Amino acid sequence: MRKISFKLGLLFFVFVLGIETVLFASLYVTLVNARINEEFEQLLARGNNHRDVLEKSYHPSTLEHVTMMESEAETDVVITNDKGKILYFSDHILPFAKRVIKKSNKNIPYGGMIVQKNWQRESYISTVSPIRIDGKIKGYVYMFQHTASIQNMIDRLKHHFLVVGILSVFLTIMTIAFLSRVITIPLIRMKQATEKLSKGDFSVRLQVKGEDELAQLGKAIQTLAKDLEYLKKERNEFLASISHELRTPLTYVKGYADIARRPTLEEEERAKYLSIIYEEAEHMQKLVKDLFELAKMDQHSFQIEKEPTPLCLFLKKVYVKMYPAFQAKNMSLVYRCDEDITVHIDRQRFEQVMMNLLDNALKYSHQGSTVSIDVRMEKKNVMIMISDEGIGIPEADLPHIFERFYRVDKSRSRTGGGTGLGLAIVKEIVEAHGGSIYATSQFGKGTNMIITLPGGDEGVHGFIG
Ligand SMILES: Nc1ncnc2c1ncn2[C@@H]1O[C@H](COP(=O)(O)OP(=O)(O)O)[C@@H](O)[C@H]1O
Ligand SMILES: [Mg+2]
Repeated sequence: MRKISFKLGLLFFVFVLGIETVLFASLYVTLVNARINEEFEQLLARGNNHRDVLEKSYHPSTLEHVTMMESEAETDVVITNDKGKILYFSDHILPFAKRVIKKSNKNIPYGGMIVQKNWQRESYISTVSPIRIDGKIKGYVYMFQHTASIQNMIDRLKHHFLVVGILSVFLTIMTIAFLSRVITIPLIRMKQATEKLSKGDFSVRLQVKGEDELAQLGKAIQTLAKDLEYLKKERNEFLASISHELRTPLTYVKGYADIARRPTLEEEERAKYLSIIYEEAEHMQKLVKDLFELAKMDQHSFQIEKEPTPLCLFLKKVYVKMYPAFQAKNMSLVYRCDEDITVHIDRQRFEQVMMNLLDNALKYSHQGSTVSIDVRMEKKNVMIMISDEGIGIPEADLPHIFERFYRVDKSRSRTGGGTGLGLAIVKEIVEAHGGSIYATSQFGKGTNMIITLPGGDEGVHGFIG
């Protein structure tokens, strides 16, 4: 469960530890060097001090006094003459002092110099300062300091570093553990949420704070959950209505087929039932065809192939195709379009739109009434209006007629061969063209279906014709 926070934490830890180690190491080295230099400088300054006193009064009493002072202090002194012969010494350091004095060359600057600086190996560090009286070297002041005190100091420093180091590693671990948890908790929540989603539980509610990438991701998941929930609900409803739509014709087919197969049945009767079965099968065929049409449009791959089309010519063809059906019902179909507007449409699909709308106008109108097709331009948009003088749509039903399977009067639609999918298909196609469709209607008086298509190459004002 906590894998990501562990990985993240480990990564942080390795990096921070690396940085801390480098910083601590360099701090340590600098500090040690500074302290040791200080020791050397102090020792040299002390030697130079003695030398200054001796230059002022080079008498045995002063020499003794200096030696005595040093035997009390942590440091030690050895005073030699100009040849390097030891005159005075403060403590039991003679063997070591002799070695150092023998080794030291005679070109010693007046400011003094370090003659033994290996504090790590040797037991003493040492400096020398020359005594000069009247421009002539009179002797040398050698200073010694035991390295044990330096080692001691270094040990204390090491101890300090160790304590601080352990403390900072501990603090680092705590901080990283906390931070990686804070960062990964939202991620883990989202992971759990998506797991729930994939199991079909859409009741995912993520608390999203802020505007950063994580919050955006959270919001995206939330939206996804809502969409999925909606889609699932819609799909269930759709499937329910399909099975409902198929149930009626199937019941008919089954029932009439059962009667028609009785051997005692008159030939005339059998023909009647068979023709009902045929009609029902035809209805189902149409339903399946429409469903297939809708299913195709639901896919993301649904593509319309637009081509520039002279609208009037196009509508004229539709008019010619539909005219006989209107004549058969003793109705008139009027078509008004005389300006040449070019629209970009998928001709085959747009013909389907016009046929569906004209089919409705025909189906839901009385004999002898008129249906008209009008075209006009409005603010660079092309408006196509199909109006009838038919039964109209009650106000309460008007907002729903573009929904799948929605019919104001089920039995009337059905006897006219309707599936309730026509307007849903029309709406999908028009919207795929970037257009829109709406209906206005007065119950008992008639209906107008208005399609708006974007763009149109000719500016025409008002209704034409
Ligand atoms: N021109 C119209 N006049 C009156 N009612 C209409 C008209 N067009 C559509 N309707 C109503 O809208 C419903 C949905 O139309 P549609 O999707 O084409 O389904 P169908 O025609 O198969 O019933 C119809 O059942 C009808 O009640
Ligand atoms: Mg229809």
